[in-house]
Amino acid sequence: MSEALLPSQPFFPSPEAVGQQTNGYKVPNHVAIIMDGNGRWAGQRGLPRLEGHRAGTQNLHRVLEALGRHGVRHVTLYAFSTENWSRPPEEVRGLLSILQGVIESEVRALHAKNVRILHLGRLDRFPKRLQREIRRALELTRNNTGMTLGVAFDYGGRDEILEAVKAIVRDGLAPERIDETVFGRYLYTRELPDPDLIIRTAGEQRLSNFLIWQSAYSEFYCSPCPWPDFDEVEVERALRSFGERTRRFGALIPIG
Ligand code: FPP
Repeated sequence: MSEALLPSQPFFPSPEAVGQQTNGYKVPNHVAIIMDGNGRWAGQRGLPRLEGHRAGTQNLHRVLEALGRHGVRHVTLYAFSTENWSRPPEEVRGLLSILQGVIESEVRALHAKNVRILHLGRLDRFPKRLQREIRRALELTRNNTGMTLGVAFDYGGRDEILEAVKAIVRDGLAPERIDETVFGRYLYTRELPDPDLIIRTAGEQRLSNFLIWQSAYSEFYCSPCPWPDFDEVEVERALRSFGERTRRFGALIPIG
């Protein structure tokens, strides 16, 4: 990948924007994104599907910058699901190679911007070298205090819940000690708050096994725009839509 995703912009999230109402609306603390439509984007241009994934990867730069500018503190990206292994081997290899490329070319820049990287999902099915590099990236950025960037790669919500249950059983926890807080500590997202806003691009309206526990009270925003074209204007639209909603979390009085 020739162009760094995060070249020389200011640190994000921009400190003055955090926790503020920008442009008159409340900004979500955690935005999770289902980056859909790469394949269709490529198909419409007569390009191979992997070119869509490459364009989608390049798009991360402007979206992360825009979210940071608005003061979003946590961003989680759904990059590869546990079900995506069933795609053609060439596409799977291509996506793993994109991840490898992103680690090689972007981790330093992210670290310089005080971004903390988290991996959500299984590590054991990646090539050994990639596993090592992911661990190194997590270790390098673990004390950073700026934006948290969760990368869900080989992630599945059901798999996450099953793994949590197995670990709880292994730890011998008594049933009366298990509540939502304790259960949450066994999830891949243990270091993240629940997502306030989940964005899905390319017109689809489903979760596809993404953060199924954590999204209990998330707001959902669907855009017809395919992921590679989802730019800062689209980000602003999504944030504005979130900011205009009233959240009651099952109560009668608005909360937050
Ligand atoms: C869905 O589009 C997209 C994916 C399965 C992959 C998303 C991955 C990236 C953008 C690159 C990797 C990112 C990181 C953070 C390393 P689709 O292929 O299902 O699109 P379609 O529905 O139009 O076919």
